[in-house]
Amino acid sequence: MPSLFITFEGGEGSGKSTQIRRLAARLGAAGRDVLITREPGGTPEAEAVRTLLVSGDVARWTPNSEALLNYAAREQHLEQVIRPALAAGRTVLCDRFMDSTRAYQGYAGGCAPSFIDALEKTIVGVTRPDLTLVFDLDPTVGLARARSRGDVVSEDRYERKGLAFHQKLREGFLDILRRDPTRCRFIDAAQDIEQVAIDVWSVVEGTL
Ligand code: TMP
Repeated sequence: MPSLFITFEGGEGSGKSTQIRRLAARLGAAGRDVLITREPGGTPEAEAVRTLLVSGDVARWTPNSEALLNYAAREQHLEQVIRPALAAGRTVLCDRFMDSTRAYQGYAGGCAPSFIDALEKTIVGVTRPDLTLVFDLDPTVGLARARSRGDVVSEDRYERKGLAFHQKLREGFLDILRRDPTRCRFIDAAQDIEQVAIDVWSVVEGTL
């Protein structure tokens, strides 16, 4: 089977992780060798960078520093995990990838688009996802969900950034969808878990 690279994007509390596990089970049952991974993270070095990004004071990093840290982690992850897995014909499901930097640090954080473009071109290069599922949800609902499920509390730095940030973030993801409608597909994350899983499978099946 040919390799496949699928990324999951969206705001906080949009249910990506649950849907990744469900899709992995379904693709595994269909005979695919599936790898689930995440960003920032996926290698020991990238996980160490993740800790710097997701914890501590909200204003500890400038948006440009955040973009560079995310891209340092991404470079490690691509070289050590993602590219080798794709070369071995595996199906890689990644919880967040390059579009998160464009949305969080670019649209919501204010980094220049040209800076993000340059990082994306140099580090991601040709290893762009075959498919990106963008989970869309009203941030008031997403933030409440993220808080109520008691996500790792030490990892809430972005959740603490305030509603205006998360509204810009949602608009950013919607703009990414509009600009790349072939790769990126809209998923209505306000629906119940079963319906979201049906929608995810129908998009993925179309790609297969
Ligand atoms: P997670 O909680 O969905 O695992 O992601 C960790 C946080 O990191 C989340 O709040 C989004 C943020 N993030 C960025 O700001 N830029 C990035 O490039 C990535 C991959 C994540």
